Amino acid sequence: MSTPPAGKLPLPELVAMKRRGDKIVMVTAYDAPGARFAEDAGIDVVLVGDTAAMVVLGYEGTTVPVTVDEMLLLTRTVSRQAKRPIVVADMPFGSYQVCDEEAVRNAIRFVKEGGADVVKLEGAGPTVSRVRSIVEAGIPVMAHVGLTPQSATMLGGFKTQGKTAEAARRLVAEARALEEAGAMSIVLEAIPAPVAARITAELAIPTIGIGAGPDCDGQVLVYHDLLGLTEGHLPRFVKRYANLSRAIRDALEAYTAEVRGGVFPGEEHTYAMPPEELAAFSA
Ligand code: KIV
Repeated sequence: MSTPPAGKLPLPELVAMKRRGDKIVMVTAYDAPGARFAEDAGIDVVLVGDTAAMVVLGYEGTTVPVTVDEMLLLTRTVSRQAKRPIVVADMPFGSYQVCDEEAVRNAIRFVKEGGADVVKLEGAGPTVSRVRSIVEAGIPVMAHVGLTPQSATMLGGFKTQGKTAEAARRLVAEARALEEAGAMSIVLEAIPAPVAARITAELAIPTIGIGAGPDCDGQVLVYHDLLGLTEGHLPRFVKRYANLSRAIRDALEAYTAEVRGGVFPGEEHTYAMPPEELAAFSA
């Protein structure tokens, strides 16, 4: 890979942060304002998540339908704005499942056309070989185990994973295999905190938790969830830091009422013209 542009957080810094015990902050972003806000807040890693399917593109309860071309558009938009944070592009369902070659081809698109620094793939099993191939092609990979939304149907829904000793041991083995395949970091989603703590202690690469307790090396939340833009049921692991949907609804209702009531636009929002020009125009 080429040298990162000046100001970009170097990838090895994430491992250094793990060693120092400095928490890594990651958030999803899907558009230019979101990427700018994340950059200005000093966030380390921005994930162009395939949650875009649900929070941006209007698919209900599934990330499966989002396409490579849709994810590329969002990734390009975010990477244009996020200068310091590491930009991770989620590879959508269908873009890496078929074979290693296709996974590498699509990962290259996310780097060349999307401007991503890293790609993220869900699962273990056959994904381990995909990770190895993509890393061998020179593209850094973030792995993702536990609740993997692209296979929610196979998992029986959006459910906590690794709750039995056997399932927990399987997760530890999967995480180790992904690290051995060359993953530079791993997302742990919706797993018991002690399992995440064990994985975090055993791996040299950083773990990023979402519903995986406080002992992970970093945390990630979905932008729309933490800002209160998502309405309806939220998973237990989400903390809302704002209620933007209320603010947006209030603003749109006020605008609607003012337009209908003839209050907006006021004089201060209106352009005048010189009186003589107006007179000539009106003659
Ligand atoms: O797509 C996404 O937003 C994710 C996060 C939930 C980790 O994968």
